Amino acid sequence: MIGDLRDPTVVANALRGVDAVCHQAAMVGLGVDFADAPDYADTNDVGTAVLLAAMARARVQRLLLAGSMVVYGEGRYDCAVHGTVPAPPRRVADLGAGRFEPCCRLCGAELTPGPVDEDAPVDPRNVYAATKLHQEHLASAWARACGGVAVSLRYHNVYGPGLPRDTPYAGVAAIFRSALARGEAPRVFEDGAQRRDFVHVTDVAAANVAALASAGDREPGSFRAYNVGSGEIRTVGDLASALATACGGPAPVVTGDYRLGDVRHITADSGRLRSELGWRPRVAFADGMAEFAAEEHEREDYARN
Ligand SMILES: NC(=O)c1ccc[n+]([C@@H]2O[C@H](COP(=O)([O-])OP(=O)(O)OC[C@H]3O[C@@H](n4cnc5c(N)ncnc54)[C@H](O)[C@@H]3O)[C@@H](O)[C@H]2O)c1
Ligand SMILES: [Zn+2]
Repeated sequence: MIGDLRDPTVVANALRGVDAVCHQAAMVGLGVDFADAPDYADTNDVGTAVLLAAMARARVQRLLLAGSMVVYGEGRYDCAVHGTVPAPPRRVADLGAGRFEPCCRLCGAELTPGPVDEDAPVDPRNVYAATKLHQEHLASAWARACGGVAVSLRYHNVYGPGLPRDTPYAGVAAIFRSALARGEAPRVFEDGAQRRDFVHVTDVAAANVAALASAGDREPGSFRAYNVGSGEIRTVGDLASALATACGGPAPVVTGDYRLGDVRHITADSGRLRSELGWRPRVAFADGMAEFAAEEHEREDYARN
């Protein structure tokens, strides 16, 4: 579809002859400041509501939503004494003093991070995250009201060909790669030990296809969420080093800067997607990042010639 998702006429025209919708459009990223909130809500919440209303009118019964891991907020944490516990809110005083690791609220011990599954409690920690969760709630309400089938794929950090360039809303892989292309060192927030899962866009595309193919077999009126992660846990520092090496650029600089709305660690257990839909990630971190770094060189060469 080309056009604004919030325009009911555009969406109604786009739905002609369609039997399933793969809803990817969104305003993404952590945002620059809170003044962005109405734009996030307008694009992500209102846009999704307009789409779903049009699907109800056109009797399109299958929806694949590009969901996000951001709905969980912080990942899972375990205390040696108290078991799985929620991560407390991040405090400016701790972050400013370089204390980035969440600690147990009950005993103060540093917590051990682990992967979340789809049944983990949701805890969106910024406006974008709140809208990604609201999109799921809207999709679920639509499925129930209209007898449709909605699937949300909660993508982890997606990277690969075609990733948007350096904008305040871009993912960290794009920001690092763009810095390296300018001959600058990637600047790593906090201490670089933030754990993430970088999943290649071709693996995400395959998950979309598998989920859409499964929609016909699902119970009408149902909603189901799946994590989409590679299962290869890496830190943001690892990412910066891998890209710096692949680009032959300067080594990363760890700045100690932070953003309050970030989460410290978030990693996914994608076992549900593997077991229910037979999905397997195919691109290893080292291979995918080497290819991703090379793509920037190709674009630079293209721009020069
Ligand atoms: N990239 C990631 O790491 C990641 C992780 C989790 C979830 N997601 C989700 O995946 C989806 C795609 O994200 P992306 O990373 O490709 O971002 P992107 O910014 O490249 O793509 C989003 C697209 O939505 C379009 N869009 C925005 N507002 C629109 C509107 N009102 N009408 C029509 N189109 C509009 C933009 O033009 C853009 O092409 C989003 O829903 C995002 O929340 C992405
Ligand atoms: Zn404890």
